[in-house]
Amino acid sequence: MKASLHTSLGPLTLDHPIINASGTFDVIEADRILEADLFSDFPFAAYVPKTVTLKPRTGNEPPRLYETAAGLLNSIGLANKGIENFIVEDLPRLAELLVPIIASIAGESTSDYGSCAELLAGRDEVAAIELNVSCPNVELDGRALGCDPERTARAVSLARAATSKFLIVKLTPNVTDIVAVAQAAAAAGADCISVINTVHGMALDPWTLKPVLGHTSGGLSGPAIKPVALRAVYMVSRALDLPVIGMGGVTTAQDVLEFLAAGASAVAIGTASFRDPLLAARLPGELRDLMEIRGISSIGQLSGMA
Ligand SMILES: Cc1cc2nc3c(=O)[nH]c(=O)nc-3n(C[C@H](O)[C@H](O)[C@H](O)COP(=O)(O)O)c2cc1C
Repeated sequence: MKASLHTSLGPLTLDHPIINASGTFDVIEADRILEADLFSDFPFAAYVPKTVTLKPRTGNEPPRLYETAAGLLNSIGLANKGIENFIVEDLPRLAELLVPIIASIAGESTSDYGSCAELLAGRDEVAAIELNVSCPNVELDGRALGCDPERTARAVSLARAATSKFLIVKLTPNVTDIVAVAQAAAAAGADCISVINTVHGMALDPWTLKPVLGHTSGGLSGPAIKPVALRAVYMVSRALDLPVIGMGGVTTAQDVLEFLAAGASAVAIGTASFRDPLLAARLPGELRDLMEIRGISSIGQLSGMA
C-alpha cells in the first residue's frame, strides 16, 4: 500500500501536508544565496511569506535572536517592508512558485486588517490570507490583538468584509483560553485556524545577568514549545469544524505525524529549517514511511486519530 499525502485546506489542494511557518523561510533570499533552484524545486506544499503590515516596520532593537536549551527566542518585532512594497516587489516573483501562496498580514490596529486584506483581495497570485493576530496592538497598550477574543473577531470580520479569499487566522498561545479566541475568529468568518505563534519568554546573559534580547523579552519557538502547540491543535480542532494548520517545534516526520493525528490538516515548519534548510525536502518521504508502517493510507485517515 502506498500512502497518499494529498491534503486540502478549503479550496487549496496540497501535494503533502508540510508548509513553512511565516517569517522563517525567505524563498527569494534563499534562492539567491543558496545555489538551488528553489522556485521550480520548492520543498513546501504552500508558501507563507513573512508577515507584512500596512506601513513598513523597522522592528525591535538588536540583539533579536538567542538560542536557548531547547528552542529559539526571537524579538524581530515584525520588521517588514510594508504591504505595498510586498505587492510590488515580492508578489510577482513569488507567483513563479508552483504552490499556493498564503500571504500573511498583521495590523497595529483592527482596521489595518481590513485595509491589508483589501489590498490583497484582487491579487490572483494570493491563494489565501493568514491574519497574524500576534502583532503588538496600539488599542491594547502593545499587547497582541489575539489576546482578546472580541478584538480578534473585529479584525477577522473587517478582513472578511474586504475579501472572499480563504481566510486563515493564526493564534497566539499567550492566552488563558485559546479555544475561546478560535471560536471568536470562526464566528467572525475565519475559514481556517493556524496554531501556534511563539510563546512569551526571556533569557538573561549568563555573565551580566541582564536580558539578552534588545527588547528584553521575545517569542520562544522550536522543540521546547511542541507540547504546547500539540495541545492547542488538539483543543482547537476538536472544538471547531474548521481545518487547522499546526505548528510549533515540529522537527521530525514523527512530529508531523503527531500534529496530524492531533487534528491538523497541514503542518508548518519554522525554527527547524534554520538548523537544517533541507529538512522540508526529506519530510514528505519520511512521513509516508511512518504512515505505511502503521497501515495509514491517507492524511484524512490520520487527521484527528488522537
Ligand atoms: C525568527 C522568527 C520569525 C518569525 N516571524 C513570524 C512572522 O512574521 N509572522 C508569523 O505569523 N509568525 C512568525 N514567526 C512564528 C512562526 O511562524 C511559528 O509560528 C513559530 O516559530 C512556531 O513554529 P516553530 O517552533 O516551528 O518555529 C516567527 C518565528 C521565528 C523563529
